[in-house]
Amino acid sequence: MTTSLPGPLRHFLQFRDFNRKEILYLLERAKLIKDRFKRYEPHRTLHDRTLAMVFEKASTRTRVSFEAGMYQMGGSVIHLTTTDSQLGRSEPIEDTARVVSRMVDLVMIRTFEQTRIERFASHSRVPVINGLTNEFHPCQILADIFTYIEHRGTIEGRTVAWIGDANNMAYTWLQAAELLDFKVHVSTPPGYQLDAARIRQIPARHLQVFDDPFEACKGADLVTTDVWTSMGYEDENEIRRKAFANWCVTMEMMDLAAPNALFMHCLPAHRGEEVAADVIDGPQSVVWDEAENRLHVQKALMEFLVLGPQT
Ligand code: CP
Ligand code: NVA
Repeated sequence: MTTSLPGPLRHFLQFRDFNRKEILYLLERAKLIKDRFKRYEPHRTLHDRTLAMVFEKASTRTRVSFEAGMYQMGGSVIHLTTTDSQLGRSEPIEDTARVVSRMVDLVMIRTFEQTRIERFASHSRVPVINGLTNEFHPCQILADIFTYIEHRGTIEGRTVAWIGDANNMAYTWLQAAELLDFKVHVSTPPGYQLDAARIRQIPARHLQVFDDPFEACKGADLVTTDVWTSMGYEDENEIRRKAFANWCVTMEMMDLAAPNALFMHCLPAHRGEEVAADVIDGPQSVVWDEAENRLHVQKALMEFLVLGPQT
């Protein structure tokens, strides 16, 4: 028997699907869940619940963190991909949503266009989580913010420098900046800038665009980047390698940031492309904590979507 909250069905398709209070609740709850995990204390609040995961793109962290997280909370997981399900043989996503959501309590999807996950969600009886689309990667930003707070305290009023592609991660940072009141400096190569239509409403106190990546790093509390070529854009790989050559996060950039600045990368990383090895493997880098924290924040997220806030 699948169950859902008595209130309206909630999804996490983009960061701003939750309000500030809800995000702060999730961050607090993730801390409690992580502390219990570190003490080997069971946290089985999703006992007998089932998560279906649908991957239309590759994954290591997202798969392992959702799958391990659900088992650790006492539930079970079904893993589907495009090629091993009827999605690969043109079954409409709406029909897949209708069927899958009658059998499980929660769905996580990694796919291409945001409209595809929205179509799934609008035909789902259970909550749907975005495990990455071309447009957004909200679970990763939840983990990144949790990681920042863990190392440095509140992110409110801080400056995040985003160096590289105007991709799903960049746009999710921007949504988080508005919700949690911090600023993002964005520097992208010519031809790969943020889409003017998508940033029109963002106030200047949350977004400043820089042509020069070194300028963008000046005084930043956190410097972060991502692959130059996201999944689904592989045909552009060679041309992007040339265009992005000056958008590699180096020690020179880190030296311009605040003295206690952190470095983050959602991974997978390409040392010598978007980040120098001495940065990602250096003392300011928190990339392994960032990856681990996917587990803890997503446990809080799944619990919230299935059971509501816990006291
Ligand atoms: N950061 C992230 O989502 O990693 P995967 O692609 O390995 O899931
Ligand atoms: N922007 C990257 C993130 C990978 C986790 C991509 O979409 O491929």
